[in-house]
Amino acid sequence: MRSLLRTDLAMQTLSVDLGDRAYPIHIGPGLLGRSDLVLPFLKQKRAVIVSNTTVGPLYLARLTRTLASAGVQVEPVVLPDGESYKNWKTLNLIFDALLTQRAERKTTLIALGGGVIGDLTGFAAACYQRGMPFIQVPTTLLAQVDSSVGGKTGINHPLGKNMIGAFYQPQLVLADTDTLSTLPDRELSAGLAEVIKYGLIRDLPFLEWLEANMEKLVARDPEALAYAITRSCQNKAEVVAADERESGQRALLNLGHTFGHAIEAGMGYGVWLHGEGVSAGTVLAAELSRRMGLIAPADVDRVAALFHRAGLPVVAPALGYDAYMNFMGVDKKVEAGRIRFVLLRKLGEAFISGNYDPEALRATLSEAVSAS
Ligand code: NAD
Ligand code: GLY
Repeated sequence: MRSLLRTDLAMQTLSVDLGDRAYPIHIGPGLLGRSDLVLPFLKQKRAVIVSNTTVGPLYLARLTRTLASAGVQVEPVVLPDGESYKNWKTLNLIFDALLTQRAERKTTLIALGGGVIGDLTGFAAACYQRGMPFIQVPTTLLAQVDSSVGGKTGINHPLGKNMIGAFYQPQLVLADTDTLSTLPDRELSAGLAEVIKYGLIRDLPFLEWLEANMEKLVARDPEALAYAITRSCQNKAEVVAADERESGQRALLNLGHTFGHAIEAGMGYGVWLHGEGVSAGTVLAAELSRRMGLIAPADVDRVAALFHRAGLPVVAPALGYDAYMNFMGVDKKVEAGRIRFVLLRKLGEAFISGNYDPEALRATLSEAVSAS
């Protein structure tokens, strides 16, 4: 990785190197006002912006004004807010709007919101007229460091998280860091879970930087946040460029997600935030790694301490062994009926394996979860 020891508040630009589908990620303040960054990616001067009832009132008018003043015809679609709406019914509202507005194949769909809006909008873009261009304008920390980059799009099913979707890359990611000023603390913490993930799976120096700077991030120090977002996106862009469709190393980005998705589905979508499930799920993955003799007890404590300092839950709910196994049995990493887990060989290095110790898993799911 190119070294990036300090990030000032000017815009940073990274690239997701996918050949003729390569695209830039711009990160910085004030980007909602930058039509010059968007215009080169529009195939016609027409865009439909998808947002929700929380983000829409905050930022839709601003983005619309920016594009309209550059001569772009803009129409909005405002969806209900929440993980529990990441489903077919809400997806269909986007199709209803696109058809009612007679959107064309060269019209651009813009996702303005967090990961839920990004995943829904990207999936709609992949399907509408068999594919229309789309742009990610992420407004949560989680979306700026993870979900807006890499082209995973989709919706939930009551029986499994993110089980229906498509790989479909955006034309551009525009991460305006000013939008984070209105993000609730709980959502900021949820985003930090995915930031910590990059350190744990492949970037030990970044993990150490996070250990030294977590309080600054929680306090929203602009320079620390800009650095964490850029470094996270660098990690994500490298992994996606190497393994776009997750035939290998991209699966490592799912550290803690096998457990975490089970927590989200098992508790009811929206009860635990995605990042909260990832946090407690990663502690379970660390605990399983420890029980398999891969890492030391002190490493598990170190992992849990960092998530705790980020304001995240570190003890998973006691869904029961069978419930965990049922939800994890429909995980996308399952092969030949066998669950595969992302495990830690050491801090800063993860691997995926279906060769886990069933007794260690049973003990993890019964002893390392909440007592209630
Ligand atoms: P979210 O989209 O639900 O956003 C969190 C909350 O913050 C929502 O209520 C939203 O309306 C609100 N919000 C968004 N921006 C705001 C702002 N600037 N100010 C105030 N409020 C704001 O949740 P999320 O954490 O962004 O994303 C979680 C989703 O992302 C999950 O569905 C998860 O599966 C998905 N995800 C996808 C990928 C991927 O690669 N596609 C990766 C990680 C997570
Ligand atoms: N967030 C997991 C991935 O993009 O692969």
